[in-house]
Amino acid sequence: MKRSGVNEIILEGDAFIRSFGYILPPFAYWSPEEMKRRGAESAGVFDARLGWDITDYGQGKFEELGLFLFTVRNGRFEDMSKSAGMLYAEKIMISRRDQISPMHRHVIKAEDIINRGGGKLVLELFMPDTEGGIDAHAEVSVPVDGTIRRLPAGGLLKLDPGESVTLLPGVWHAFWGEGGDVLIGEVSTVNDDLTDNIFRDPIGRFSEIEEDVEPAHLLVSDYGRWLAR
Ligand SMILES: [Fe+2]
Repeated sequence: MKRSGVNEIILEGDAFIRSFGYILPPFAYWSPEEMKRRGAESAGVFDARLGWDITDYGQGKFEELGLFLFTVRNGRFEDMSKSAGMLYAEKIMISRRDQISPMHRHVIKAEDIINRGGGKLVLELFMPDTEGGIDAHAEVSVPVDGTIRRLPAGGLLKLDPGESVTLLPGVWHAFWGEGGDVLIGEVSTVNDDLTDNIFRDPIGRFSEIEEDVEPAHLLVSDYGRWLAR
């Protein structure tokens, strides 16, 4: 993706989020220079990898295959083994109409995926087989706001604004917006995007950025190179 495209998606996404009355935290609007200046003082932002995460999964066709994410809060993955500490995370995301987030599962993370407004959110779901792969036959059973919904393997779960689904580790899921762009909330176990995403197809998790203009804001995937973190 070109950096100019990322800058534009951030602007559009911010306006879409605000249109629902959801306001991002102040660190969303720090410039790259301010992030560099803050360093240790705001290490909590960088170490938890909070912030903008615009991804085309490395495939260069964001409109068809992509997701807008902003990680608002995130705990410490190491604390999971202690069963104590900040073990939770929150993201706000946008799936555009017919824009696919590809089939994947998590090993550690349980997540509630919430339709916070806009179009319908469609999820294609499969249960894992004994090796963790896709079970092409097993009935899918997932809680939707506390009520179990049963679907055939690969069935489509459609969530209207206000509805949410709980996806336990192992459940395979792909999702997209139907009839319009969708504002999506994610409330989950602590999140490590570097290790805890297993995709069905061999794709990346982050975008390759072509630097045609200066970044308005850094992406989480820029922190390593730009901030040496
Ligand atoms: Fe997921």
